[in-house]
Amino acid sequence: MRVANMKELVLQRARHLTRSPLFTQTDTRILEVSRKSPEQIDIRELEILIERRPDLRDQIIEEANSSYYGLHYAVASLHQAIVIIGLYNLLSVTMITSLSEVFEGNTRMTRLGLDSFLSHSVGVGAAARAAANVALSTLVPPMEIQISGILHDVGYSVFIRNFPRDFDRCIEQALRERRPLRDIEMEVFGIAHDELGGHLARAWNLPDYVVQSAEFHHRVALARHPHDELVALIGWVDRLVLEEADTAGGNRTLPLESHSPADDPSLAVHYAALFETLERNRDEILNSARKAMNRARRKGPDEEEDAEAGD
Ligand SMILES: [Fe+2]
Ligand SMILES: [Fe+2]
Repeated sequence: MRVANMKELVLQRARHLTRSPLFTQTDTRILEVSRKSPEQIDIRELEILIERRPDLRDQIIEEANSSYYGLHYAVASLHQAIVIIGLYNLLSVTMITSLSEVFEGNTRMTRLGLDSFLSHSVGVGAAARAAANVALSTLVPPMEIQISGILHDVGYSVFIRNFPRDFDRCIEQALRERRPLRDIEMEVFGIAHDELGGHLARAWNLPDYVVQSAEFHHRVALARHPHDELVALIGWVDRLVLEEADTAGGNRTLPLESHSPADDPSLAVHYAALFETLERNRDEILNSARKAMNRARRKGPDEEEDAEAGD
């Protein structure tokens, strides 16, 4: 098939995907409530909402019982689990559960498994929040920055759901030729996951900073004020998290997607203060990502046992 036709087909599938919302009504409500400021949060309201999603309820209780929290007793009540894991982790768990559903049925079809994809997404989410805490003066709340990070690669869902074999070939070629996966996506599909992510996020009516983070994390020069710094930050942490996965050897299925925006001379000058602060806090940012990725990997729906053994 010609690349132009392939691109039209991919866009058609993307439109199809956006006919249903990214999050169910209940999940949207849960995310809305957990995004309120701490003094306004009604845990009882959250509990009632979460009780309507038994699989999510189980995931939250499982999260609270994970060794990460180091409890010496078993948590059985949802209320207690919410208090123990806290709102940032609640947000991650809710988004992971929802995102898993976007990939319905295709969880094992590509070399980029669901587990790797989700752990990369929550890693970038946690790193972006930690990075923004030290490096960004923005009006966007930390919870929203975490959401922007978690969703930055959502465009991959179109390839994974609809073109698993072609996408697998892209990954293999990128690994073999040591070329950025994004370049191969352009050659094969005529469109890459970042542009697709922008289409999806816009169609789902997500806020502009989420749209821009998805659309421009590999093309930071195109990001628009006032969210361009946030996009530069996401691009920087994305590369950091990928490098970490690559050196740790645990998540080699996502070939290094691109260079860090800090390697681009004009961006390096434009965002000099930002990149300098990020570099100075590199270890702390990486640590936040590691913790989130380890937890996500432990809970990955397809590789529970492997991940448990690997921790
Ligand atoms: Fe990406
Ligand atoms: Fe990424």
